[in-house]
Amino acid sequence: MSLINELDSLGEKLKESLAQAGTLPELEELRIAYMGRKGFLAGLMAKLKDLSAEERPAFGQKANEVKESLTALLDGRLRELKALHEDAGLASFDPSLPGRLPWQGSLHAVTLVTREICAIYERLGYDVVTGPEVETDFYNFEALNFPHDHPARDMQDTLFVGDKIVMRTHTSPVEVRTMLARKKPPVAIVSPGKVFRRDYDITHSPMFHQIEGLLVDENMSLCDLRGTLAYMCRSLFGQTVNVRFRPSFFPFTEPSAEVDISCIMCNGIGHIKGEPCRVCKATGWLEILGCGMTDPNVFAYSGFSRESNGFAFGLGVERVAMLKYGIGDLRLFFENDMRFLQQFA
Ligand code: DAH
Repeated sequence: MSLINELDSLGEKLKESLAQAGTLPELEELRIAYMGRKGFLAGLMAKLKDLSAEERPAFGQKANEVKESLTALLDGRLRELKALHEDAGLASFDPSLPGRLPWQGSLHAVTLVTREICAIYERLGYDVVTGPEVETDFYNFEALNFPHDHPARDMQDTLFVGDKIVMRTHTSPVEVRTMLARKKPPVAIVSPGKVFRRDYDITHSPMFHQIEGLLVDENMSLCDLRGTLAYMCRSLFGQTVNVRFRPSFFPFTEPSAEVDISCIMCNGIGHIKGEPCRVCKATGWLEILGCGMTDPNVFAYSGFSRESNGFAFGLGVERVAMLKYGIGDLRLFFENDMRFLQQFA
């Protein structure tokens, strides 16, 4: 075959090879094989010197034509392959999918339970009020009838900020502040907020949340207190929940009681399928708050007549949230683990 014919056949050969080249790297290999410095075209051009002077111009011209057509073939295939890749990209893109949503915050379990409990009392006509987290000894202890040597004033529990200034250890001081501000009955308030104690382990946090309740009106009895708290417990945990009072002691109430609800895990039976219930430790009851009839000394400190009559209660919000949502570890509330927090969205 003459050199010219060999040149001519390069285009046909490349066309066949290109049909097989399905990827960009394969295409690049062909470009090098045909047009590279040691490629087929360069190999034929090297033979130019063997030709006679008459043959050379025609051969040179042919070589240029072939070079152009090879380049056109390679470029054409390159465009084809790129278009194919784009089509493949489009095929894996589903335009009907919803877009990515921005992060959305949600309320904390403590906030949810606080709002739920406050709403229960607002339905009963109570006001929601708040008080300061840094308190004086007077509001946190003295006006609540804590004797001067009462162990609750001990450094063990109380975080002192200064002389007779404390981080409040409970929400009860809001009772005194409210009565002093309102001057006379009736008073019906709940007061949610943070409280602080020198305590830290699996079941205690140095900061946690309480809700205080106070009702002062005429002819209030333990029955009213019991009915009110039973209404709250059933609103929170379901209508079948039982409520019991256990005698207890608080300086600011007389008589005082702790309130238990029938265990929401085992329905108060104490065991589940023959196994002792772990939530209530097989007792069938769960303690949920403290309460009592307000002590006359507290009325006196608060500017109310000693003959005033009413009741008070205080509950731990984390405790209620743990029971309500089945949370086993108090620390989860304060660690800000997104996996925990997102469950309440
Ligand atoms: N202040 C109490 C505490 O922190 C809770 C409490 C008990 C509040 C009885 C009350 C009450 O108002 O009557 O442990």
